Amino acid sequence: MRLSRLCLTAACALGALTASAEKVQFNRDIRPIFSDTCFACHGPDENKIKGGLRLDSLEAARKGGKSGEAAIIPGKPDASEVMKRLRTDDADDHMPPAEFHKVLTKDQIALVERWIKEGAEYQGHWAFQIPAKPAVPKIPADGNAIDAFLAAPLASKELTPNGPATCRLSWRTTRPRPGPKPSIVCWPHLTTAKTWPCSGSTSPVTPTPTVSRATRSA
Ligand code: HEC
Repeated sequence: MRLSRLCLTAACALGALTASAEKVQFNRDIRPIFSDTCFACHGPDENKIKGGLRLDSLEAARKGGKSGEAAIIPGKPDASEVMKRLRTDDADDHMPPAEFHKVLTKDQIALVERWIKEGAEYQGHWAFQIPAKPAVPKIPADGNAIDAFLAAPLASKELTPNGPATCRLSWRTTRPRPGPKPSIVCWPHLTTAKTWPCSGSTSPVTPTPTVSRATRSA
C-alpha cells in the first residue's frame, strides 16, 4: 500500500518523465527536491539564507549569491552555478553541504538539469494555481481515461496493468461513507441505485447509502 501510494506520486512521475517527452514542471518535479535539499539555506526565510543565495524565485536565482555568478540561467544548465555545485566532486563546493546529510540522486540531478534546459520556469504554490484539465493520452484497448494516464508510468517500469477492477471493488471505493462526501458525479447514482450496474458482475451488491440525498450539503 505504502509503496503503491509512493509510486502514484513521486516515483511514477519520475518514471513517466524519464520515458516521455513531457516537460518538467516546477511544482510537481523540482519544488519537492529544492524544498528537501536546498530551501533550508536558500529559501524564503531571510534569517537562514546562506551564501547570500535564494533559490525560491527565478529573479533571485538569476541574481545569484555572494560569488556574483547566476545560480540559474534558463536554457543553460552548464553555465548555471547550481549545476556546477550539484555535479562537483570538490567537497567544499558540493551542494547540499555534507553536514546537511542529504544527497540528490542521479535522477534528481538530471531532472534539475532538464528543468533549467527547458527554461527554468518557476510556478507559484500549487494551492494558488488554477487547475488545468490535461489532455487525455491515448486510451488503451479495453481501458478508460484513468488507464490512459497510468499507461506511460507503468510502461516506463516495464509493468503491465492488472485486469479490470472488480465490480465490488469499484463499489467499495465509491460508496458513501463517513468523512469527505463522494464526488458529485457518483452521488446521485449511488443513492438511487439498487445494484451496481457493472457489466459482467456475477454478484451484484445492494447499496445501503448511509446518508440520504437530502442531507448532502452543497
Ligand atoms: C545546510 C545549508 C545549505 C544547503 C541545504 C544548501 N546550501 Fe548551497 N550554500 C550553502 C552555503 C553556506 C553557501 C556559501 C558557501 C559556498 O559558496 O560554498 C552556499 C552556496 C551555494 C551556491 C553559490 C552561491 C554564490 O553565488 O556564492 C549555490 C549555487 C548553492 N549553494 C546551491 C545550492 C543548491 C542547488 C542546494 C540544494 C541542492 C543547496 N545549495 C543547498 C549552504 C547550503
